[in-house]
Amino acid sequence: MTEHFQLYGRRHGRPLRRHRSELLETLLPVVRLERPEPGSRLELDPLFTSPVEAVWLEVGFGGGEHLAAQAVANPGVGIIGCEPFINGVAGLLGHIEREELAGRVRVLADDARFLIDALPDASIGRAFVLFADPWPKKRHWERRFIGPANLDRLARVLKDGAELRLASDDPGLVTWMLDHTWHHPAFEWLARKAEDWRTRPADWPQTRYEQKALEAGRRPVFLRFMRRER
Ligand SMILES: C[S@@+](CC[C@H](N)C(=O)[O-])C[C@H]1O[C@@H](n2cnc3c(N)ncnc32)[C@H](O)[C@@H]1O
Repeated sequence: MTEHFQLYGRRHGRPLRRHRSELLETLLPVVRLERPEPGSRLELDPLFTSPVEAVWLEVGFGGGEHLAAQAVANPGVGIIGCEPFINGVAGLLGHIEREELAGRVRVLADDARFLIDALPDASIGRAFVLFADPWPKKRHWERRFIGPANLDRLARVLKDGAELRLASDDPGLVTWMLDHTWHHPAFEWLARKAEDWRTRPADWPQTRYEQKALEAGRRPVFLRFMRRER
């Protein structure tokens, strides 16, 4: 039986500015991935029109600033971003246009689980889930993206030694993510001292949610895990 995915959160926000709407018509068809059929496998090589040596994945890229900055800083990398919030997708398209990233960035405007389930085993060099929705009420905890089922999904598609990067400014979600990822046999936490999770590494661009958290006086936490050898 095919698992039913319930997506929580908004797909649409405020009306888009004209150029952003135009990008949804003109650029999205160039970079978009269709939602893979259940049980299908996606071949990564033909996805990109620029040469790439590695493929990274960002789940819930929001406005796309982190994804775009990573693509600019890592010219040999192709990045697949998944984001069902269409205003966020339009934001990323603006970055793709300005930074000329259309050859190396692909977008699924949908739930990341559809994409991850179609990825080949051990195909992803790095994955990011940054400032995921915290779902603070206990009855909503099962909605949190990082949990046993999605960690299994990520463990399957990450290469041995690949990094999984998580961040949050919500202490409850931080504890939850640490607890689940720490106890998952595929992942090793890379922090050796408090400074490692308190400070954002230099190769980790800031996201809009991190900026909002800092402005509100909250302290974000940055978690780096390594996918252990199979
Ligand atoms: C709190 S926002 C953070 C956005 C961005 N990462 C940042 O730090 O600014 C969380 C994002 O995750 C997206 N999201 C939630 N569930 C998702 C899923 N199953 N697949 C992909 N994206 C998802 C939401 O649409 C939302 O844009």
